[in-house]
Amino acid sequence: MSKFLLELSYLIGSITFILGLKMLASPDRARKGNLVAAAGMALAIAGTILFHEKEGAPIGNIPWILAAMGIGTVVGWLMAMKVKMTAMPQMVSFFNGMGGACAAIISLVEYHSHPEGSAGYLLIVFLGLVIGTVSFSGSIVAYGKLDEKIKDMGGRYLTYLNLALLALIAVVTTLSVVSPETFGHSSLWILLGLSFLYGVLFVMPIGGADMPVVISLLNSFTGMAAAFGGFLYGNQVMLTGGILVGSAGTILTVLMCKAMNRSLLNVIIGSFGGSASGKAASGDQTVREITLTDTAILCAYAGKVCIVPGYGLAVAQAQHICHELEKKLEDKGVEVIYAIHPVAGRMPGHMNVLLAEADVPYPKLVEMEEANPGMSNTDVVIVVGANDVVNPAAENDPGSPIYGMPVLKVWDAKNTIVLKRSMRAGYAGIENELFFLPKTKMLFGDAKDTLQKLVGELKDL
Ligand code: TAP
Repeated sequence: MSKFLLELSYLIGSITFILGLKMLASPDRARKGNLVAAAGMALAIAGTILFHEKEGAPIGNIPWILAAMGIGTVVGWLMAMKVKMTAMPQMVSFFNGMGGACAAIISLVEYHSHPEGSAGYLLIVFLGLVIGTVSFSGSIVAYGKLDEKIKDMGGRYLTYLNLALLALIAVVTTLSVVSPETFGHSSLWILLGLSFLYGVLFVMPIGGADMPVVISLLNSFTGMAAAFGGFLYGNQVMLTGGILVGSAGTILTVLMCKAMNRSLLNVIIGSFGGSASGKAASGDQTVREITLTDTAILCAYAGKVCIVPGYGLAVAQAQHICHELEKKLEDKGVEVIYAIHPVAGRMPGHMNVLLAEADVPYPKLVEMEEANPGMSNTDVVIVVGANDVVNPAAENDPGSPIYGMPVLKVWDAKNTIVLKRSMRAGYAGIENELFFLPKTKMLFGDAKDTLQKLVGELKDL
């Protein structure tokens, strides 16, 4: 009976993961999807504690398990309640690293429980250890970079070092599987060290706006490592969860690679992006400012306005007032759309989530490939706290770290107004030629404050 109830809890858990993931695809149902999957996970954990048996006996250590769960719940709850919306990507990266660490620990424990396992078993143990550890150390470095605590560290030598490390990891894993009596025990710790180092060194050089690809890749690593854990334990719910995270992360990585026009191989050996370079700012370039009143007049009498949101929208929490502006303009007969760059902000779908929170109708969000051809017949583009995703250097400066990344061609529009606080660079840390183009006007200030005043001006027109 216990076995039946255990399997049933795993089956229900697996189904909720799939349903939850499906619901996450739509902003309206995403919150509910998260709760559905979390409830499934809670059921699977409860099922394991109550019904799992080891050699005919209950799992034991219940006080320890409950204490660990209690500490984890309190820490996770406090972190989630305290975190600012703009620091969410860092937190997700940190939690992803914890998942990788868990998978690696499972492999360590399992190896010591069954060091005499078959070659297939040992292969899964070692792969879980390597991938979980890379995911852990890589995610912690990604966390530091997103939080601006860790700077890029570049150089061609790192590419070669990473390739050498990967080759070494492959050789040690093979030897440990083929000849466990000779290499088994010590190689476990060697692999742990090498994987940790590789995780750090492969994320260290990545910068220049390429972090999104790495983050989704690390996410898929954690999923894969968890799936290996599921294999080891013969645990279906862990397997399903791991496979879902691993495959969703892999699909996202491929999409991100496409969005950034990068190759996956380059990500794995950590050889793209890198510290900011590109053209230096030429001191004599002119920046043209525009007043709020002129902006309001320009927008009110436009036929079509395109809003380009970026990370600054999230920082300013300007999504609601942005929606207000859109409604005000539509009342005046202006067509308004939002052009969404796939890596605008700091996490996949960041802009979609923010705008959905402000009840912006989903059909108004136009993806980059669709938005770019329409730029030339757009009267006004309003760039709200975006920078790298509208940088022409991606198209015309081969020395730029973002060269080759598709961007929103806002310079094709008849007028471009950029809302930001200063001339400071964006995430990639590079100068943006857009701000000096004759058609571009700067409207300096905090985005929320500026948009509030702009809506006020529109009311008076
Ligand atoms: P960024 O290039 O980071 O530029 C954001 C701009 O917003 C800054 O130049 C900043 O200028 C402005 N800003 C900040 N706070 C503001 C405020 N309160 N009011 C008005 N403006 C404000 O953003 P982006 O164009 O969205 O590009 C995203 C970048 O992040 C890309 O390089 C991307 O690769 C990277 N990244 C993305 C992800 C994902 S998955 N989306 C993950 C990691 C990294 P001021 O300081 O002058 O105001």
